Amino acid sequence: MDAPRIRPPRDPAAPLAGAIIVVGVAGGIAAYKACELVRLLTKAGAQVHVCMTRRAQKFVGPMTFQALTGHPVFTELFSLTEEATIGHIQLADRADLMIIAPATANAIARLAAGMSDDAVTTVALACTAPLLIAPSMNVNMWAHPLTRANVTRLTEVAGARVVGPDAGFLACRWTGPGRLAEPADIVEAAARILAPQDLAGKRVLVTAGPTHEAIDPARYLGNRSTGKMGYALAAAAARRGAEVVLVSGPVALEPPLGVEVIAVEDARAMRAAIDARVLAQDLIVMAAAVADFRPVAPSDRKLKRTEIGYTPTIALDSNPDILGEIGQARKARGAARPVLVGFAAETHDVVDYARAKLASKAVDMIVANDVTEAGAGFGTDTNRVVLVEPGGDTAIPAGTKAAVAHRILDRAVALL
Ligand code: C5P
Repeated sequence: MDAPRIRPPRDPAAPLAGAIIVVGVAGGIAAYKACELVRLLTKAGAQVHVCMTRRAQKFVGPMTFQALTGHPVFTELFSLTEEATIGHIQLADRADLMIIAPATANAIARLAAGMSDDAVTTVALACTAPLLIAPSMNVNMWAHPLTRANVTRLTEVAGARVVGPDAGFLACRWTGPGRLAEPADIVEAAARILAPQDLAGKRVLVTAGPTHEAIDPARYLGNRSTGKMGYALAAAAARRGAEVVLVSGPVALEPPLGVEVIAVEDARAMRAAIDARVLAQDLIVMAAAVADFRPVAPSDRKLKRTEIGYTPTIALDSNPDILGEIGQARKARGAARPVLVGFAAETHDVVDYARAKLASKAVDMIVANDVTEAGAGFGTDTNRVVLVEPGGDTAIPAGTKAAVAHRILDRAVALL
């Protein structure tokens, strides 16, 4: 018998890389979405093995999964050829994670009863790795007390995790909860199971995006921030187990899975949202590009060109320095919490300015960001930053904003 596999610590930026994931496909119309799931898992670096129930094969052929994974698909309990390639017990033993997607009411019920009468339930029962189920069924089947009880049994007795179902228009033409979670959300749920949970039990507040400072109901002063870095930080912290609140200026981004988003318009609303929560946080990361100034007297009706003339001036007032206020207040309390991380988006002398901000705002770390560099700063999907701390600087290699977010959190975890 093989020795138990030693599971190395995983990089939270790529927790699926090298992982062996068994995807069990049950017989529901959403089986076609399992193809996309398998593709995304493979793209994230996982080695995927698929097992299917007989009914699932009515919806998608095993050939599709074999082509997507590069591995034979386990479909029959008593197939000599399949068992000769890789036995189902061996598959169950080697897995780092099993995902059942779609998990139909029937598959959930049979597994909850401890049955193993098809390829999916058999591998699931033999598998000691974590189990993630992505239910998909008719609204009323999902709401049925027996399904509820079966899901509870899977989570409470077997420790399974559940992602979805989403609410929406279903294949059965009902609208409501029952739709398979989006494949990308299933992948993120899997990533959260495999990533180190070094922020478990921690409360993290992240700010993101620009602020819009009203001139009148139609016009505002703003900046080029898109919120991508802050959203990446919020998603990264949630993946590592934190309870995350994201205070977001106006952006065009989807809220990260499982993150509470508080949408604000301007700097003063952002300050109010943060002030109400500061003392409950373990870590605050201020990635928002807060406008430094706001129009003194915004008009409550749209200003006409004839009213403001051809060379108008807008009188401005300074906005509060939210991070500076929090930092100075923490210093006055003589407290070490929350750990405070700010950003410095600059076009020149980036690290020098960042070091000055570290002191003036009395924070623990400033992420210095040269916004003129190609592939860094506003709107890009990549970034290159230097972490400036009292003890020294750490240059983070260029990477996706998601990867850079994890490197920032690595340091924040060390400070916590
Ligand atoms: O002083 P500066 O704007 O360069 O500092 C940037 C950092 O301070 C960022 O973390 C930003 O979120 C925060 N900030 C703030 N309130 C402001 C301006 C910036 O909290 N009014």
